[in-house]
Amino acid sequence: MFITLEGPEGSGKTSQLAPLAHYLCEVGFEVLVTREPGGTTVGDQIREILMNLDNDSIIPRTEILLFLAARAQHVELLIKPALKAGKIVLCDRYGDSTLAYQGFGHQSDIDTLRFLLDYATAGLKPDLTLLLDVPVQVGMARKRANNAEWNRLDAYAEAFHKRVRQGYLDLANNEPERWVIIDAAKPIDHIQEAMRKAILHRLKH
Ligand code: TYD
Repeated sequence: MFITLEGPEGSGKTSQLAPLAHYLCEVGFEVLVTREPGGTTVGDQIREILMNLDNDSIIPRTEILLFLAARAQHVELLIKPALKAGKIVLCDRYGDSTLAYQGFGHQSDIDTLRFLLDYATAGLKPDLTLLLDVPVQVGMARKRANNAEWNRLDAYAEAFHKRVRQGYLDLANNEPERWVIIDAAKPIDHIQEAMRKAILHRLKH
């Protein structure tokens, strides 16, 4: 089963990953935890380019193609082999991040993005996507309070992040059979519990 975690800035998804993976291992699954952009040697190098605050000359089409290039490597070298070996793949961000950030956030054409995404991933879609939804103000405040790494993509205006959040909600509401929306403004334990429940429920059906 291929599970992706999505959410706007400060949704806390990254800190939920390790305990979630630990739990799934405890109940008997083999799990691969990975993230985007990154996950492979080439993907990590592309991540460096994308996150570097000095690279402010990157134009939107370049940004899209870099995310997709990293994803193509990730799918072939890591995700597909793990799925083939019967593992649960837990991936921190995937194609929906491109739709939410580049599509809704930067307002690049969604149909073109979907076409390119399909090409980059050779059509591999998640079986389940957990959306950790949090209001923009709460997420940004959390990120600042945690002194989290502040990257090139975080530095965009609040209006951008509002479009990203709304974009995620639209994607989730349009494909409810794949998505589960989790209220990430709740306490950490509560969120973890909701994530576990959603996964176990999907594994049984
Ligand atoms: P990261 O430091 O991994 O942040 P987070 O903990 O929020 O996942 O940075 C990833 C950034 O890249 C984040 O701002 C979202 C952005 N992103 C895109 O814009 N498009 C994409 O396709 C992906 C995978 C990420």
